Amino acid sequence: MATKIGAQQGDKVYRFTPAERVAHWVHTVCFFLLLLTGLAVFWPGGNAIASLFGGVQVARIIHRVVAVPYAIVALVVLFGWAPEQAKEWLRIAWSWSKEDLVFIAGYMPELMGRHNPNLPEADKFNAGEKFNSVLTLVTGFGLVVTGIIMWFPHFFPKWLVRLAYPFHDLSWLGMSAMLVIHIYLSVIHPRMRAALEGMISGWVSAE
Ligand code: HEM
Repeated sequence: MATKIGAQQGDKVYRFTPAERVAHWVHTVCFFLLLLTGLAVFWPGGNAIASLFGGVQVARIIHRVVAVPYAIVALVVLFGWAPEQAKEWLRIAWSWSKEDLVFIAGYMPELMGRHNPNLPEADKFNAGEKFNSVLTLVTGFGLVVTGIIMWFPHFFPKWLVRLAYPFHDLSWLGMSAMLVIHIYLSVIHPRMRAALEGMISGWVSAE
């Protein structure tokens, strides 16, 4: 029988199902490939990045090819394989309370590596993780919609195509800024990096 979310074993809690972990890593790999191939096209000094893919033209093609799994695979895995967890994630991500704002306001010392014992208790996802989830959903939607407009410009009015570029850029810039904090917390931060284990084995320290 599959292990239930929240099950405890010693000081570990079961946090993420295989579906959630697969969706997370598929999304991550696609995002990085899209960021690199997008930068190869976007950035005038991006020749070094473009050469990783065999030139700007190849980077353009890879960008369009990877865009398809980016838009579809993680959502299909999540909602097809673990619909209960997916719905729960959406529910928690979009329900904000006063405690969440207190959590965000008091998180600065934690971000700097000091412990703030006065942070409010969190649900399965704390306010920072909720913010990351909402940003991922909003910018992901924005990237897919603007990306399709940029990909097939002949089907859309000129003003919309012109508008799609800055919105595509705002979306990847916003998500990439969040990604820097996300990677810092999951790989470097002394207290939070234990959480990375949850996205690898599914089990995470109860603390
Ligand atoms: C379904 C998702 C996506 C689609 C369909 C898509 C499509 C496109 C298209 C058609 C272009 C124009 C490329 C060219 O001029 O040949 C483009 C540019 C770009 N994309 Fe995406 N993209 C998607 C997701 C992403 C993501 C997730 C990122 C970043 C993580 C990203 C970053 C970029 C960048 C940096 C550019 C260059 C923008 C510019 O020239 O102003 N894209 N994208």
